[in-house]
Amino acid sequence: MILVTGGAGFIGANFILDWLAVNDEPVLNLDKLTYAGNLENLAALADEARYAFVRGDIGDRARVDALLTRHRPRAVVNFAAESHVDRSIHAPDDFIQTNIVGTFSLLESVRAHFSALGTDEKAAFRFLHVSTDEVFGSLGPGDAPFAETHRTAPNSPYSASKAASDHLVRAYFHTYGVPVLTTNCSNNYGAFQFPEKLIPLVIVNALAGKSLPVYGDGRQIRDWLYVGDHCAAIRRVLEAGVPGETYNIGGWNECANIDIVRAVCDRLDAVRPRSDGCSYRERIVHVADRPGHDRRYAIDARKIESTLGWRPAETLSTGLEKTIRWYLDNPDWILRVQSGAYRDWIEKNYGGRNE
Ligand code: NAD
Ligand code: DAU
Repeated sequence: MILVTGGAGFIGANFILDWLAVNDEPVLNLDKLTYAGNLENLAALADEARYAFVRGDIGDRARVDALLTRHRPRAVVNFAAESHVDRSIHAPDDFIQTNIVGTFSLLESVRAHFSALGTDEKAAFRFLHVSTDEVFGSLGPGDAPFAETHRTAPNSPYSASKAASDHLVRAYFHTYGVPVLTTNCSNNYGAFQFPEKLIPLVIVNALAGKSLPVYGDGRQIRDWLYVGDHCAAIRRVLEAGVPGETYNIGGWNECANIDIVRAVCDRLDAVRPRSDGCSYRERIVHVADRPGHDRRYAIDARKIESTLGWRPAETLSTGLEKTIRWYLDNPDWILRVQSGAYRDWIEKNYGGRNE
């Protein structure tokens, strides 16, 4: 079996659903259930014998040690993290605690587990750490996309905490021989993404008749990857990645934020037109920029393609279509995640931000 951490979040939940759809191997999901963890994302697995959930913190050493001893997973896939850049700007503490201290503690547990395995189990064991392209910092307009060899230059508390965890993971390979794999991926989108991130926030706000906030001039560029493609890439790296190596994962889809927001509006105009006949684009407002906002990310995903044969299957257009359809089909999910805590966050991040 494999142990997945943070499996009740956006990518982790997609990964578990995807894994069990194509693979017989059972999954144990360890998740703390922060504001971002939502067991409803995994409701489809209610009667699934190959799936089990444990509520817990990756930084709880005794708990994780006990889980590893009891279940003897042949791999650990670490998604657990605080993941939202804006929250890291307002309150970095949890990012340091989970992303750095928590990953360190998890690595200590994994190191102890690994050292107690027999020769064959050792050869098969992997620790896969899910990281981000944000550790590389910001690119200029003409710069080459991030390759695996690009220097790390994180600019937000979030990306600094992820870079720190990446360094720890690397050190556990070089110092202790733990067979680690690290993936650095670009911006994901798709079903179950919490509506604090750009694409689901725009969909949810548009459907609710609210304004669509674009930070600064909206010309910041991200590379967008449909979450199903990310899950397939992680499965492939787990299967055939070389321990100690890092793999960049991207969608070959660089796009400016304002163009993403317009694309969402245009799709909604087509499939859920406003009753007044106006375009959703009319609700776009430019608001004060994110402090330290990285201007451009772009991923050179040639290594994973040439060595492991993975390429994204979705285009931005097909991925957005699927994503918008999912949000339109799941209004109850949207309602339930917009708790009082969500409303407090929206007020904290956007209140008084209008330009
Ligand atoms: P998310 O915020 O939606 O989910 C994070 C999950 O981790 C939640 O279920 C949460 O409850 C859990 N968690 C948080 N702290 C924990 C702890 N201490 N112990 C156990 N569980 C804990 O995040 P996501 O968007 O699904 O991202 C998953 C991973 O992928 C993160 O490591 C993130 O840095 C990375 N990543 C995300 C993206 C993206 O675009 N979303 C892109 C590249 C990499
Ligand atoms: O690049 C990978 C990273 O992508 C992941 O590591 C992070 O976990 C994930 O959150 C994401 O980070 P971003 O900061 O790029 O994602 P976000 O959706 O928050 O913002 C995308 C872009 O849109 C960014 O340039 C900021 C901008 N933005 C965001 C929000 C929430 C807006 O213009 N308006 C908004 O309201």
